[in-house]
Amino acid sequence: MAWMTRWPGSFPLFVDFAAGARFTDVDGLEYVDFCLGDTGAMTGHALPQVAAALAQQAARGITTMLPTADAAEVGAELAKRFRLPIWQMAMTATDANRFVLRFARHLTGRQKVLVFDWCYHGTVDEALVTMAPDGRAVPRHGSIAPMVDPALTTVVVPFNDIAALETALATGEIACVLAEPALTNIGIVLPDPGFHAALRDLTRRYDTLLVIDETHTICVGPGGATQSWQLDPDFVVIGKTIGGGMPAAAYGCSAAIAVRLDRLLDDAEIDSSGVGGTLTGNALALAAVRATLLSTLRAEDFAYMIPMATSWTEGVQASIDEFGLPWSVQQLGARAEYWFCPPPRDGAAAAAAADAQLDAFMHLWALNRGVLLTPFHNMALMSPFHSTADVELHTHVFRAAVEALLS
Ligand SMILES: Cc1ncc(COP(=O)(O)O)c(C=O)c1O
Repeated sequence: MAWMTRWPGSFPLFVDFAAGARFTDVDGLEYVDFCLGDTGAMTGHALPQVAAALAQQAARGITTMLPTADAAEVGAELAKRFRLPIWQMAMTATDANRFVLRFARHLTGRQKVLVFDWCYHGTVDEALVTMAPDGRAVPRHGSIAPMVDPALTTVVVPFNDIAALETALATGEIACVLAEPALTNIGIVLPDPGFHAALRDLTRRYDTLLVIDETHTICVGPGGATQSWQLDPDFVVIGKTIGGGMPAAAYGCSAAIAVRLDRLLDDAEIDSSGVGGTLTGNALALAAVRATLLSTLRAEDFAYMIPMATSWTEGVQASIDEFGLPWSVQQLGARAEYWFCPPPRDGAAAAAAADAQLDAFMHLWALNRGVLLTPFHNMALMSPFHSTADVELHTHVFRAAVEALLS
């Protein structure tokens, strides 16, 4: 991705190896990793169970286009966690979102997708949009040559704006709402109380399907916000961390949707559905997902990670209070993030509050002292391997950065 090539700046770190919550660069310097590959390695790096499963499966065949026994176990585990019975694999969360949008359009016979302003769901054309001042969906700044004008495919409304959501749904032209339970890609923007209940009620009232993208919000618990906040979506998408770092993603749907899709997919006339790919659901990916889900991201892991994120949050808050800063810090399960303003309520407010120079300063200051933050905004994610000492290191480094800024 373009920003990944720019991120390291003029003095890029090259990683020698990564294990647990740390990585070591080729100069032998060790870092505490609060970025964790932007959730791809939320399980911690180099999980032994995943390494063993990969080695074992690699020696037993990587791809045959036929399921292995792991498929049944992975499907059952995902069903238990996200409370949806039927699952399909994808290689990435981007792909999973694309496939679900196709299904939603087919099932409803409607063309448009609704997303929230400043969302991110991967490199999915329909969702790479922001809201123009006149309310239209326009290509997100930097999105290269969108296939069609996104105003033709997408309706965008502010997060937490129930009135705008209802106005858009009432047109009857929206196939599905694609939403993160809380925005995490323009910083953490939490849903207002009652927002999700209204979202579900309104989507049902206007026959619009609800797709919940849990790729980042798995940080809330073993079944993401869907389980923890008792959401009731038609589809769930989950990517990144479920493969323990291996490219793998999945999407699930309700029994009612599955029946409707079965009829479609059983049609002997259908060969190229526009969904899936040759290597999708390959044996190696399934082995990685099985090993990941059975050995980590379990309730007991979150019982460790979430208090760790609370300590990180309290450490940042202590400096904000000590120095009387107008900044804030926000926690979402095992993820936390600080802002240079009060917590925003929607994506546009979050985008307006961004300060690229200050971000860069805070990231570089931390990196030079052995702490890696997520490269955009000021986000930290906990794995089961982070220790209190790691969190205290960040608390100390953050305080010193603030002190230096004010001196
Ligand atoms: C919520 C959400 N969905 C989907 C994606 C896409 O994931 P991937 O880049 O692995 O396809 C991302 C990536 O950041 C994401 O944050």
